[in-house]
Amino acid sequence: MALLSQPFNALIIGSSGTIGSAFMALLQSNPGCTSVIGLHRHSEIPIDYQQPESIEAAATALTSQGPFQLIINTIGVLHTADWMPEKRLEDINSDQLMDLMKINAIGPVLTIKHFSKLLDPQNSIMASLSAKVGSIEDNRLGGWYSYRASKAALNMLIKTAAIEFARTKPNTALVAIHPGTVNSRLSQPFRGEQIGRPPLDAASDMLRVIESLNKEDSGTFIAYSGERLPW
Ligand SMILES: NC(=O)c1ccc[n+]([C@@H]2O[C@H](COP(=O)([O-])OP(=O)(O)OC[C@H]3O[C@@H](n4cnc5c(N)ncnc54)[C@H](OP(=O)(O)O)[C@@H]3O)[C@@H](O)[C@H]2O)c1
Repeated sequence: MALLSQPFNALIIGSSGTIGSAFMALLQSNPGCTSVIGLHRHSEIPIDYQQPESIEAAATALTSQGPFQLIINTIGVLHTADWMPEKRLEDINSDQLMDLMKINAIGPVLTIKHFSKLLDPQNSIMASLSAKVGSIEDNRLGGWYSYRASKAALNMLIKTAAIEFARTKPNTALVAIHPGTVNSRLSQPFRGEQIGRPPLDAASDMLRVIESLNKEDSGTFIAYSGERLPW
């Protein structure tokens, strides 16, 4: 049985991003969605993964607005003002690795830790945007060391938390979702405009997948198409 009940309350974390904004737009016009709240670095309640204490503070500030039946975290970086993805071992440096781990893995798992307290214990879904390039088994091209490693770390953290949730939150599905290549700020330096899909298409595909999730799907890595991906 599908976990996402109607009507539902939703929370989008990273709502300033390309895919995050697309989720906001879709949910704002979805008749089944009673309310959707967006959080980002500059929202009224801010969340900034360079300041991990902001994660717990944001979750605490939202307590009275829950419970949420759906939380989607879209925060993630591939490149920053300081870093472009590494092409070869020679490019690896600890600062870049640390930064990407902080934003793509540590921030998201602390978000699961603190925001899972706001989930509806009766039925809820928490989805974090990962990336297929974080799949160790699927890695054929190499390169992008810190992005791949940070998304692989995120995948392991999600899988591990999902095993714990099966005991502590049996009516919650915790999943990693791959959006496909999307025309966005993140993909822009990598021909995103040419090879990426429109963000609204990606978000509506992912929402369709989310709407079909049931308890047994918790702890899986799923693509926007519904395909199960190897970890
Ligand atoms: N686009 C693709 O082709 C693609 C493919 C596979 C996976 N993904 C994943 O999809 C997710 C969304 O990507 P997107 O394409 O929508 O990228 P985007 O437009 O660059 O959005 C990234 C989001 O992350 C936020 N963010 C970055 N650093 C942050 C920090 N230190 N603290 C808090 N928030 C921070 C940004 O906030 P600001 O607005 O404040 O910068 C923004 O909301 C990411 O997790 C990405 O890895 C994307």
